Formats: sequence, structure tokens, C-alpha cells
Amino acid sequence: MLNIQNLTYLQNGVPLLQNANLQVFANQRLGLVGRNGCGKSTLFRLIRGEIQPDSGEIMLQTGKTIAFVEQEIINSHQSALEFVLDGDIELRQLEKALAHEVHDTDWFESQHRYEAIDGYGARARAAKLLDGLGFSNDALECSVNQFSGGWRMRLNLARALMHRADLLLLDEPTNHLDLEAILWLEQYLTRYPGSLMVVSHDREFLNTCVNRIAHIHNQIIDSYSGNYDDFECARVERIAQQTQAVQQQQRYIAHMEDFVRRFRAKATKAKQAQSRIKALERLTRIVPLCVEDDHYQLQINAPERGPDVLLKVEDMGFGYGEKRLFQHVNVSLRAGMRIALLGPNGAGKSTLIKLLIAELKPDTGRVSMASDIRIGYFAQHQLEKLDGLMTPLQHFQQLAPKETALTLRTFLGRFGLGANSEDRPVMTFSGGEKSRLALALLAWQKPHLLLLDEPTNHLDLDMRAALMLTLEEYTGSVVLVSHDRSLIGAVADELWLVADGQVRLFDGNLEDYKDWIESQRAREAIKPKHKKVIQPKVSKPNKKALLSKQAKLEATLSIAQTELAAINHQLANPVTYMTRPREEIKRLDQIRAELEGKITELEESWLELERMMEECD
Ligand SMILES: Nc1ncnc2c1ncn2[C@@H]1O[C@H](COP(=O)(O)OP(=O)(O)OP(=O)(O)O)[C@@H](O)[C@H]1O
Ligand SMILES: [Mg+2]
Repeated sequence: MLNIQNLTYLQNGVPLLQNANLQVFANQRLGLVGRNGCGKSTLFRLIRGEIQPDSGEIMLQTGKTIAFVEQEIINSHQSALEFVLDGDIELRQLEKALAHEVHDTDWFESQHRYEAIDGYGARARAAKLLDGLGFSNDALECSVNQFSGGWRMRLNLARALMHRADLLLLDEPTNHLDLEAILWLEQYLTRYPGSLMVVSHDREFLNTCVNRIAHIHNQIIDSYSGNYDDFECARVERIAQQTQAVQQQQRYIAHMEDFVRRFRAKATKAKQAQSRIKALERLTRIVPLCVEDDHYQLQINAPERGPDVLLKVEDMGFGYGEKRLFQHVNVSLRAGMRIALLGPNGAGKSTLIKLLIAELKPDTGRVSMASDIRIGYFAQHQLEKLDGLMTPLQHFQQLAPKETALTLRTFLGRFGLGANSEDRPVMTFSGGEKSRLALALLAWQKPHLLLLDEPTNHLDLDMRAALMLTLEEYTGSVVLVSHDRSLIGAVADELWLVADGQVRLFDGNLEDYKDWIESQRAREAIKPKHKKVIQPKVSKPNKKALLSKQAKLEATLSIAQTELAAINHQLANPVTYMTRPREEIKRLDQIRAELEGKITELEESWLELERMMEECD
């Protein structure tokens, strides 16, 4: 359906893509992955014809159509439902044709077509899409302008899903969604009837929805069948095979060159030597794939010891106009606490954070913050707060005028903002590059408390993993809102549920939360008007603490097991022994032993927690 051949695109004279190839077939669900700034969004712009390649071709099969999500926040007085229905262009054309009073042959043809595409069911389909994306029944009739930026982005997504195109392009669709809507979108996309190309840095999301991965790397595109996990395994294998092929080819080249050198001068062999020179010239050199081994080494500067209670919320109430969001909320945030906020759409997670940092004032009760503490707040729309005209270094110099440029550059380098980007204005940055800068600015300021509202949006998987490790080591307190399940698992000791006007401890792990959401949804489906909120189970503090400890342990265990599997894979491959220096193999073996030890310890602690919980019951 889509054929990309020898595509080259230069960004400021430097190739971003060079002789890249990719084919997308009908009904394929393709995940497009690669590090921040490798050119994924640029590839989408090329496919849509918004920018032109420097050379090569992008061919879409004749008659096929492309749907994509508008990235602009649109101003419109239309109702949400009508706005989404506009996504189905053919439907709108047919509606116009059917409005004609003269019932001629064209009219009857339109009527047939309208029935064939189930025009009568279109409204119900649009309403279902909006419901899945978290819009309430009442919201369907509200005008687009009444929604906030984030919700308007969801409307753009719904509109693109409504478009019955042959190829759907989605660029990080989960960024504007919460966990609940992501789970819905995953299910929706697995049943999507057309072809799909989706850029995402969310491993779980990719594992559920795609059946092929295209990886942009070293200016080319490699494709792999299967989901994201399959891609990771296959990539390790491909690198090993490629290394072996490179070595074989080098031996062959050396042999031919030697032949040419020795026999060029001899009249009897000159002809053969000539033909070998030609063969050598024709030979396509296999370029060794290199693994991305420049791992990020993030750093969050450690705060000095602060007060024991950082924030206290007492009998707090808050609402936007008529809509009451919180009533009689009582919670305290102590030093060292690490909390993830869960809760359905619009329950007030971001609002709660804004109340905590006094960006919003409560209507009743009090929110008090300890004096002399530094708070690092990563807002959902943090990237808009960066100054597009300034470079990353200038952002830092504003914050730390006394530091040398070298120190600041080194710190930026830890966040992957090295030589290629630190002196460019931020407006030329990709989404992920902007996020890295925003996080680096927070990390510099030795925060006692980090309030992170969707910090991993836009970040590539390596950077997410690095952030996860850094947050695990960070000594301050954390309040996290995230739809990144692995991040929550690794960072949070406690889950707080924001729902039904209250903020409570949630008894259980993320799997339990998924069940809770489903039960909530099921009830709403039966009684859409009079929804009865299921009370989450409130735990005995003891068992709750044990459960969250166990969840965290499971996340660490799963990371260790994945690392161990990767190392075992390398050590089991004979190519490793042929291609890697001995010290490196020794080091790998040592890491394997350490990981095995760590896993045994973690498993023992897990069993111990299990035993303690049985005693609690
Ligand atoms: N005007 C410009 N001058 C120089 N570099 C630019 C300019 N515009 C974009 N770039 C760079 O081109 C690269 C590709 O950007 P693109 O948005 O395609 O990346 P991406 O793969 O989508 O990244 P992300 O995962 O962060 O969304 C980035 O490094 C970006 O900084
Ligand atoms: Mg992008």
C-alpha cells in the first residue's frame, strides 16, 4: 500500500534519513520506533507530503487514503460530536448529496452508498469513540471551544479514528490520554480494519497493538515482524549475525585484494586481476549495525535534609464553578514518600497537584507547604513553558548564572542533549528533546519534592528506563501521575486513588486498578445517568504497605529478569566470543552472576512479604 524507496531527507544539510526503505502492506499494524530526534515525526510529514524528500520516492497505492491526527488545537463552535463526525469525509459528502430535494439517479446512488457505509450508525459510532476516550454523555453536545487543550487533542484523535482511511498515522497517540483511555485505544486499534502506522515510546501499548516494528536507526529504517518485545530479541540476534557477516566479508575482501596485488603485474593473470578489481568495486559493503550503547546517565541533584512534613492538606474542598471536584480531603506528604496518583478521567489528578503547589487556591480548608523547601514541578504542558528562541545552555545559564558553561554542558549531556542540540534554539527540537530539557532543568535544582505530571510523554524508551533508575535512587519525595505502568511500578511505594471527590490509599496494585476501572465502566454502561461510584477498598495500613512493597519488588524483579535474559542471550551466542574482547565477556559474566544473586534475594523478599500478608489476613 505504501512503498518508500531510497528516501533521503536532509535537516540543515545533515542527513536525517539516508536511502531508507519501507513497505507497508494492507491490514498491517506497524509500530514506528527509534530514539528521540531520529526522524519519526519527520517521516510522517514526508508521507503526508507536507515536506519533500531530497531524493528517493514515497508511493501510495492509487486511490488509497491517509488519515492522521491534527496536531493543532482547533477552535470551533461545533459540538464535539459533529466535529468528530466531520472526520468521515465521505459520510459528510453523502449527507450533503442526500439533502437535495430532487431524487434522481445520483440521489439513489448516494442513498445506496450511505447504507453501505452504515451512515445511519455513524452517530452511534462517533459517540462510542468519544465514550472510549473519556468524554461523558453530556460532553458530546458541548462546543469544541469549551474543552481544554488536552481534551481538544483527544477530539482530534477521535476525528482521525472516525475517518475510514486505508492508512492511519498516529504520532504518540497516548501522550494526551490517561491509563483508562489508553487501555480502550489499545483494544480499538487491535481491531482496526485498515493499515496502521503508530509512533510510540510505550512498550505495553506497542506490545498490544502492533504486529510489525519499523526501527529508525543510523538514518535508515529496519523492519521486524512481531511486537516490541519480539523486536528487541530479534534485534540482538540480527546484530550478532551482521557482525559475523561483516567479518566474513572482510576476509573475502582481504583475499581478493591480496590476489590483485600479487597478480596485477603478471601478464598471464592480469585479466583475472582486473575482473576481481571490478568485483570488489561492485561489492556492497555490509555496514556493521551498532548497538546503542551510549546509555544516558541522568542525575537529579540531591536535596539537603528538609522538614519531615512537606505538605499538609486539611479538610480541603475545591471545584471549578458548579462542578465540585474535592470535598473534605485530608492527606499529608512526608519526606521520602513516593506516591503515584491514580484515578479516572477528569477526577482531578492534575488539579490536586496544582492545589498542592498553590497554583490553585482551595475553596475551603487548607493546603500548607513547609517553608524552605524546593519543589520541582513537571506540568503536563511543561514544554510550552520553554522559551523557543533560547538554546538549552541559555535556559541553564538563566538558572545558574555563576556556573561555568562546561559544567552546564556536562549536565545537559547526561540528559542526551549533547553537542548536536545544546546550541540550537528550542523551537527546532523534537517533542522528546524538549522533554529532556524540561526534566534537566528540574533535576538541577536539588528538589525536596518532585511533582511529576506525565513526565514520560515524548521520552524514548532508553530515556524512560534511565529516568526510572534515577528516580529509584532519588532521595527526595515524589508525587507521580503517569500512564506509564512500568514507571509507576518502579517508582511508587503507595498508590493514591483520586475519585469521587476524595483522595484515598488504593489497596492493591496496577492490575487491581485495571479491574477497578473495568467494574466502574461496566456499572456506567448499565446506568449511564445515575452512576454509582464503587468505593475502592480501603486497606488496613499494614497490608497496604506490604502490597505496595510487593508491587515495587515485582517491577524491580522483572527488570532484573529482563536484563539477565538479555545477557544470557549474548553469552549463549558463539559470535559474542568471536567478536568481543575477553575483558568484556568477563564483565558480562560477572554481571550475570550479580543479577542472579539479586534475583534470588528479590524472590526471597517477595516470599517473605507473601508470608507476612497471610499473617495479616
Ligand atoms: N530547523 C531545524 N534545525 C535543525 N534541526 C532540526 C530542525 N527541526 C528539527 N530538527 C531536528 O530534526 C530531528 C528530527 O526531528 P523529529 O521531530 O522527526 O524527531 P522524532 O523522531 O519524531 O523525535 P521524538 O521521539 O522526540 O518525537 C530532531 O533532532 C530535531 O531536533
Ligand atoms: Mg516525534
